[in-house]
Amino acid sequence: MTSSFFDGKRQFFDIWASNYDCLLTTVFYQAIHQRLLEFVELPPSPRLLDLGCGTGRLLDRFARTYPDLQGTGLDLSLEMIQQARKRNAFDDRLDFAVGNVESLPFDAEQFDAVSCTVSFLHYPRPEVAIAEIDRVLKPGGRFYFVDYLPFEGFGENSIYPVSPGGLRLYARSQREDFAKPVGWRCEGHYHLLIRIVLTIFVKSEN
Ligand SMILES: C[S@@+](CC[C@H](N)C(=O)[O-])C[C@H]1O[C@@H](n2cnc3c(N)ncnc32)[C@H](O)[C@@H]1O
Repeated sequence: MTSSFFDGKRQFFDIWASNYDCLLTTVFYQAIHQRLLEFVELPPSPRLLDLGCGTGRLLDRFARTYPDLQGTGLDLSLEMIQQARKRNAFDDRLDFAVGNVESLPFDAEQFDAVSCTVSFLHYPRPEVAIAEIDRVLKPGGRFYFVDYLPFEGFGENSIYPVSPGGLRLYARSQREDFAKPVGWRCEGHYHLLIRIVLTIFVKSEN
């Protein structure tokens, strides 16, 4: 994938970052985050990675809900990360890094869980993202994948011409297919809001 693909995405989100938490988007995304937490299961003292964390609102919610959680947010956009750092109310437990899902700046088997809310749709090569998530998850760890389902009238592998590089939306069966090369178990698909569906994957213990 050429760097101009990621440059286009980065610029788009850099420009959006300072207004990202305006009323409309914040109500929508916070509603998704709230619903997601109804389905999350974490071990004691969990380490969580939030991929495409934006301004860090989901991690803030996690930190408030789980007082012993350590969280890391990663995002392609420096402006998003700067917003997240500025608003971080849990300096001792949450940190934020700039990076690309295709090459995560973390050692293997670091995290008990990885979350990704409405960000995966921007990733051009789902199989590369999945392999990286698998690498950083501990055995038995969970991946919480939250995104839109494809819209009626679009083919399975349509690229939606919204935002630079387009968006890629996946049906439940396509999400399950992603898990096959890495051997994850799909625990289920759960409707969160309008066309937003959570898919929970579990990495095997061995
Ligand atoms: C619509 S925002 C969602 C932000 C946040 N997850 C939320 O729920 O509010 C999508 C985010 O994904 C990030 N993103 C897009 N492509 C990425 C990539 N290849 N690696 C890491 N982050 C990426 C964008 O910079 C943006 O902040």
